[in-house]
Amino acid sequence: MNRVIAPARKISGTIKVPGDKSISHRALMVGALAEGITEIENLANGQDVQSTAACLRELGIKVETHQHKTCVHGKGLYGFRPPAAILDVRNSGTTIRLLSGLLAGHPFVSTITGDDSIQRRPMSRIVQPLRSMGARIQARNDEYAPLEIHGGNLQPIHYALPVASAQVKSCLLFAGLFAEGVTEISEPSPTRDHSERLLQIFGARIEKNGPTVSVHGPAKLTAQSLFVPGDLSSAAFFMAAAVLINESQLRIEGVGMNPTRSALIAVLNEMGADIDILNFSTVNNECIADVIARPSKLKGIRISGAWIPQLIDEIPILAVLATQAEGITEIRDAKELRFKESDRLHALAYNLTNMGARVEEREEGLTIFGPVKLKGAKIDPFNDHRMAMAFSVAGLIADGETNIQNAECAEVSFSGFFETLQEVTCV
Ligand code: S3P
Repeated sequence: MNRVIAPARKISGTIKVPGDKSISHRALMVGALAEGITEIENLANGQDVQSTAACLRELGIKVETHQHKTCVHGKGLYGFRPPAAILDVRNSGTTIRLLSGLLAGHPFVSTITGDDSIQRRPMSRIVQPLRSMGARIQARNDEYAPLEIHGGNLQPIHYALPVASAQVKSCLLFAGLFAEGVTEISEPSPTRDHSERLLQIFGARIEKNGPTVSVHGPAKLTAQSLFVPGDLSSAAFFMAAAVLINESQLRIEGVGMNPTRSALIAVLNEMGADIDILNFSTVNNECIADVIARPSKLKGIRISGAWIPQLIDEIPILAVLATQAEGITEIRDAKELRFKESDRLHALAYNLTNMGARVEEREEGLTIFGPVKLKGAKIDPFNDHRMAMAFSVAGLIADGETNIQNAECAEVSFSGFFETLQEVTCV
């Protein structure tokens, strides 16, 4: 399905975005390991989180949704049953990496895989440390899915992550729940800490000491009632649209503001964006607030080092913003973007150049020279939800029409994205 995006006159209104994808995956998985029924409100509505639910069902966990509430019937730490079929995560990297940690803890054999994109993404980053905990795992070329996991009998490890990755950290913390003793994971720079916060609520013993987080196993987890904050990574597209288009005024309510996720706000402010954050509160160990975004004159910025893992999913929309900023924007130390749902550095450079932007692709980043008036173009999102959404926003400020090919890939994280965009767009 193609979507045609026309230039917009302004963005206005008050909206909510779907629940946070990262928190939703974790809520389902930790709920499955807990004793009792975990009730989750505002679970993310995209296909990725449905993949997690489907895999859990295949593992014998009842997951049911009534209106806005999802119930996970947890069966305790060793409650999974051996799956009768191959576990299919489709496009979801978080599902394959985090669930592999749990499968490594269970004393049975399982096979987990996903779509073409998943089968191209690096898995040795979880396979190696899970093997050192005692799991036997086979991977294609020792790197790629499908993964065949012979789990059980895990030992704790002390492990320093070679790359900053919340998925790898969480995989190992999840495996650590099964290992008798203390599993310690150190990260080269801070990544999202939703797993740590959630495990604490469920009763796991989690300790944080500088760059190191530890979990005590075996853990006994108790079911909880949870509310998932709105996804800041989804809100980012609407914030950007309001910042870029004259006379806009947009309010987004109930957005997650976890400090390991909200570097986007600091970067936008530094670029000169008029963004207000108000009505802060805390809900099940996570920060939540409302966002107001208004049109702004932007300037170029350098984004590198420890910023990158804290706004890794927002770089596509930041690159679009950078085309409208005065001066040069440099994105550096961002090689990880090549290993996401698509090679995002290539996908950004390719599509932005087609829209008339001045972009240089580097091995580990991008240099963007602004401001440049964008022109409508045919966009190839490379089957990557964040590309489809970022270039829809670019289309709103381009001359002429922008045609997003295969636009349904946005459903991976945000079902109803185009409807919400239409709701706030005045042409
Ligand atoms: C995620 C972590 C990030 C992010 C992904 C979701 C998570 O990947 O890109 O969309 O839920 O843990 P990293 O593993 O690179 O941090």
